[in-house]
Amino acid sequence: MSRRREWFDDERFWRDTYDFMFPPERFEAAPAEVSALLKLAKPRGKAVLDLCSGPGRASVELAKRGYRVTGVDRTRFLMGKARARAKAARVKVEWVESDMRDFARPAAFDLALSLFTSFGYFDDKSEDLLVLRNVFASLRPGGVFVIERTGKERLARIFQPTTSQRVPDGGWLVERHEIFDDWTRIRNEWVVIRGGKSRIFRFHHTLYSGQELRDRLEAAGFADVKLYGSLAGDAYGVNAARLVAVARKERQRSGGTSRARRSGGRTSRLANR
Ligand SMILES: C[S@@+](CC[C@H](N)C(=O)[O-])C[C@H]1O[C@@H](n2cnc3c(N)ncnc32)[C@H](O)[C@@H]1O
Repeated sequence: MSRRREWFDDERFWRDTYDFMFPPERFEAAPAEVSALLKLAKPRGKAVLDLCSGPGRASVELAKRGYRVTGVDRTRFLMGKARARAKAARVKVEWVESDMRDFARPAAFDLALSLFTSFGYFDDKSEDLLVLRNVFASLRPGGVFVIERTGKERLARIFQPTTSQRVPDGGWLVERHEIFDDWTRIRNEWVVIRGGKSRIFRFHHTLYSGQELRDRLEAAGFADVKLYGSLAGDAYGVNAARLVAVARKERQRSGGTSRARRSGGRTSRLANR
């Protein structure tokens, strides 16, 4: 499918920001994150979809624990990192190079993941709903979807237009942020200064409050959407560090009225292919 190019389609963006986005601590955190999310989601089976799997932080950790993982990501560079990681850990993961809008595998997974703010990238916001519908279609009845991202409430509380930090190689990362589109999106500019030279990376995405994310998930057919402030299950309250949604695809009761059925059994146009 041909689409207008957006910022996340640029491989160079992921290549050049890799060291800031994925420092060693982020990989070191993966085992604890995976333990926490498994405890929170309690999947009924072992088939996992890691949507936007990036360099395979969660995918590889789950595979080490005996889960059958499918990692989906559109960035070849990051998928190369993920493959190398799986190889080094001697685990098998199915890697699918695909845009998240195009991936659907009907009733194939017990657990689906969207971790580390990997949702809400599209200029056309309705495409977020398309992704959720694809995930809904890809889950088995009783399956569970975990989204972990920055929440709008926290951002409003801590928002600073400009921040800066030292990066491991001695350079500086200056971040500039701008809220636009009536508090529905954030535009970010990362200026990396090294050895007297600077490079700029620009990206933007849609912001979700807890309620907005819940509404989106329910519109896609999910039920029993619970919100947390961390993968450890803290309350989504004023001190929430993250926005975590755990959403279930209801098991169909005979003659039942699952939300998806009530809404006319909507599934993705892609899932229907
Ligand atoms: C912030 S990273 C998170 C990676 C991973 N979930 C983690 O927790 O480490 C966002 C990921 O989304 C992927 N991505 C961005 N846009 C995408 C799209 N349209 N379809 C599929 N993957 C996409 C990027 O390649 C990147 O791996």
